[in-house]
Amino acid sequence: MTFDFERMIDRTNTNSIKWHQYPEDVLPLWVADMDLAAPEPVQEALCRAVEHGIFGYEFPNKVLLETVAARMDNLYGWQVSPDTVVAIPGVIAGFTAAARTVCTAGQGILVQPPVYPPFLSVHKSSALVRQDAPLRMTAEGARLHYFVDMDMFKEAVHSGGAQTGMFLLCNPQNPTGQVYSHDDLTRMAEICQRNNIYICSDEIHSELLLGEGPACGQGAGRHIPIASLGLEIADRTITLIAPSKTFNVPGLFCGFAIITNQDLLKRYKETVEQMSLHVNSLGLTAAQAAFSGMCDDWLAALRVHLTGNRDFLVDIVKREFKGMRVTVPEATYLAWLDCNELVRASRITGTPYEFFLKKAKVALNEGKAFGIGGDGFVRLNFGCPRKTLEEALERMKAALA
Ligand SMILES: Cc1ncc(COP(=O)(O)O)c(C=O)c1O
Repeated sequence: MTFDFERMIDRTNTNSIKWHQYPEDVLPLWVADMDLAAPEPVQEALCRAVEHGIFGYEFPNKVLLETVAARMDNLYGWQVSPDTVVAIPGVIAGFTAAARTVCTAGQGILVQPPVYPPFLSVHKSSALVRQDAPLRMTAEGARLHYFVDMDMFKEAVHSGGAQTGMFLLCNPQNPTGQVYSHDDLTRMAEICQRNNIYICSDEIHSELLLGEGPACGQGAGRHIPIASLGLEIADRTITLIAPSKTFNVPGLFCGFAIITNQDLLKRYKETVEQMSLHVNSLGLTAAQAAFSGMCDDWLAALRVHLTGNRDFLVDIVKREFKGMRVTVPEATYLAWLDCNELVRASRITGTPYEFFLKKAKVALNEGKAFGIGGDGFVRLNFGCPRKTLEEALERMKAALA
């Protein structure tokens, strides 16, 4: 079966945040949704639900919870009971609820910038303290690599006079596209165990693993849920997943927390109840179709498409954007571009985000919003038809010329 990821779908005059935020002559490659249609089984399931005509309150039924649990086993050999799965309206809501469940006021939340901006503010809603353990960056020519700096990680634990209550992990990492290795995950988990820190692991991008070589969706790295490393680690972990990024249904607001520790599960469910985190019924419908296996061929083809876009982007940056450096993301559709040298050489005036918005009419994400290590960077979303990506890169090149 073939899937058409080159079809241009007009999103102007929809209520898309991505396409509505900037004037019409701006090409938006910022917020993390894709300009690609959701897989057909998802669309068909939604059509059937719409035809029924009644949109009452719904609960996540047994089949859905079993489907989520079976997917963890199929993908990672991680066996969890369907009873450990909690439906949530999204991953941001999920980690906010996690912080409220496991931390008491004045405790710390450890995060690893540069990181998805809502990670940097979750402490505010629960009177907590943010503790930064910045990732370490190295470069090989124009290619950027990111690593966990274990010394920084240890230093951040219990820093700033606060006892760390929760480590908020982003794996695969946004914006660097890094997929953490077994070794890194084990070392971070051991530090959390030694220091009695809960782990909340945001794994929303985990099914979007990219290939290793040009135009190749095969041979992608392996995602390891941190909770699958062992029972003791699972005992202190809240894992968050969702169909939203993978199957491009983020506006349907549905995700899942998986919590194998029975006491933690009970406390988390209470928080979810207190926060009135009710899930959209169409989101549950989409999740069932997305995780059922019926969309897996589509997903394999999507990964090939995204791998192709990534390789195209990296190749152009290396060849035609002298002075710019870029990650080669192992997962998801976000590239992280270092423009600092272009700023220093005065080829970019203002911040790179402002420059590309004004001079190229391309909207990217402002690097500074991702915390330490984000200055002079922009994040680019390549989850789109190749033509859109080509057009954006042309415009950016012309702005720099
Ligand atoms: C790492 C990460 N977590 C969470 C979210 C948002 O999740 P949700 O829309 O389910 O709250 C995103 C969206 O880009 C993300 O990249």
